[in-house]
This record gives sequence, structure tokens and C-alpha cells, in this order.
Amino acid sequence: METTLIILKPDAVQRGLMGRIISRFEDKGLQVVGCKMMQISPQLAATHYEAHKGKGFYDGLVRFMTSSPVLVLALRGNGAIAIARGMMGATFGSKANPGTIRGDFGVSNSFNLIHGSDSPEAAERELKLFFATGEVLNWPRASEAWVYDMSGGKPE
Ligand code: RTP
Ligand code: MG
Repeated sequence: METTLIILKPDAVQRGLMGRIISRFEDKGLQVVGCKMMQISPQLAATHYEAHKGKGFYDGLVRFMTSSPVLVLALRGNGAIAIARGMMGATFGSKANPGTIRGDFGVSNSFNLIHGSDSPEAAERELKLFFATGEVLNWPRASEAWVYDMSGGKPE
């Protein structure tokens, strides 16, 4: 099972889209194993997006991410990282396909509603940045045996 770090960005929170976005992930079958609202500090935003330092959009990105509260989620599932990225859609709202979160809920290229880890390495690093030990819970989901075919002993 993979766990991925999702951030519902300030625009998603301010526009009242948290519930609808979380519902999409729950409907898909991803399990919420961590969830908290927070205001990201400039230092945390800089660390999180350090790969983009020096790019033209970097300063605006840090300003945006720290401008208002966000909702941080840890989502778990088989292939959760790629599944969540697919559900998010392309980076720019103007380009994201209908049916994706960015495609259905936004038109802006910089206010693009959601962040998701893009690799297992990124997920491991980002989960540690946003969740302290014990804040990601390993809780047994009652519906697990209906979300996955467990007849072979592992989730299929
Ligand atoms: P994220 O990291 O937030 O999940 O988004 P992403 O992987 O789809 O896109 P990435 O290339 O990592 O860019 C990070 C965030 O920076 C803003 N951005 N603006 N104006 C621009 O050219 C531009 N490019 C990127 C977006 O908010 C993007 O999500
Ligand atoms: Mg990215």
C-alpha cells in the first residue's frame, strides 16, 4: 500500500471545495489516514517546493501557499500516488481535462486547487514535512474487503 501527501490549497479551502474534493478520493476507494488544517509557514512552503526555487513562478507560489489555510491529507491505497495525480489532472486549470479535480473545479493556472506527491520518494519526504510521528494513522477500514479483492491474500 502506498501513502501520498495531498494538499487542498488555499483556493480550494476558500472556495468551499474541501468536501467535494475529499469525496472524490473516498468514492474512488482511497483511505484517509491523515488529515489536518494548517496555515503553511513561508519556511515550510520553501522546503516543500525547493525543487522550484529560482523559477519565475516560485515567489508567487510561496505567497499563494502561505496566504490562507490549507487542508493536508495523507491518502492510502494500492498505487495511491499515481491514482491521486491522475484524479488531480494537469497542472494548469486551463489545460486539465474534464473529470479531473483541476479540470472540473478551476480555470486558473496558478490557483490550481490541489497538490499531490509525484513519486514514492516525494511522498515519503512530503509526508514527513507535514505530519509528525503518530499523525498518520494505520486504522483498519471496515469496507476494505469490498474495496479490494483480498482472496489472494493481498489487495487486487
Ligand atoms: P503540485 O506540485 O502543486 O502538485 O503541482 P504539479 O506537480 O502539477 O506542478 P509543478 O510543476 O510541481 O508546479 C508546482 C506548482 O507551481 C505552480 N506553477 N505555476 N505559472 C507557472 O508556470 C507555474 N508552473 C507551476 C502551480 O501552482 C503548481 O501546482
Ligand atoms: Mg509538483
